[in-house]
Amino acid sequence: MSDVKMPDHVGIIMDGNGRWAKARMLPRVLGHNAGMEAMKRIVKASSKIGVKYLTVYAFSTENWKRSTEEINGIFKLIVKYVNSELKELDENNVKINIMGEYDMLPEDSVEAIDKMVETLKDNDGLIFNIALNYGGRDEILKGVKSLYKECIKDGRDIDTLTENDLSRYLYSGSCNLDIPDPDLIIRTSGEVRMSNFLTWQSAYSELIFTDTLWPDFTEEEYGKLLLEFSKRKRRFGGREQEDK
Ligand code: IPE
Ligand code: IPE
Ligand code: MG
Repeated sequence: MSDVKMPDHVGIIMDGNGRWAKARMLPRVLGHNAGMEAMKRIVKASSKIGVKYLTVYAFSTENWKRSTEEINGIFKLIVKYVNSELKELDENNVKINIMGEYDMLPEDSVEAIDKMVETLKDNDGLIFNIALNYGGRDEILKGVKSLYKECIKDGRDIDTLTENDLSRYLYSGSCNLDIPDPDLIIRTSGEVRMSNFLTWQSAYSELIFTDTLWPDFTEEEYGKLLLEFSKRKRRFGGREQEDK
């Protein structure tokens, strides 16, 4: 893949766990478990391929509408993930960053997350962002509130504010990791919508939608989608080189 234009930052809306389980007449939580296995594969593949930032949508601010049983099942999987993967993530030099307010999760999940973030904090390989209790609108609103407070405190004129000022207060800008906007966002399961994922940061992302249910997503398909990305012409509102 050396001569292929790779995305620095890939975002993934990991959707279709429920339908995967339903097709097998299994409880939904087993679909989420299979989804976690797919996530492990894609994290490893991303490290191997040289993607610099991977952001996965693990739980949205709207997912609280689901049953307590399903929500708790998802949160238990976080503990399982940390217990089984922490060593290998560290060996692969992965650093983890959480996007979202995760302090309202059950105590054991919060502890597992804190341990994982702390253990991996000095790694400088793949930056693996997990969007957890994340919503794009929630992120922007929180950012606006913080920026407003800063303006009041510093007596700054609101009319001098720039897009960069707000970016600094988003999860992607406030974590000292210089996370660029995603170049590519993939959504599985055939749904063609953003569902409140990276609302600010996705302004110029390339989007790819695949019918594959997330638990069935393989390294091979990931490679194909990265190749598809490499053929996209990104203009950012300008014109192609040869037109100028
Ligand atoms: C995505 O799979 C995982 C989460 C939202 C946590 P779903 O659970 O949404 O699966 P479907 O869309 O019902 O198939
Ligand atoms: C988006 O999937 C959230 C995650 C993948 C975590 P949903 O399944 O919640 O999205 P909708 O409800 O189909 O839009
Ligand atoms: Mg879904």
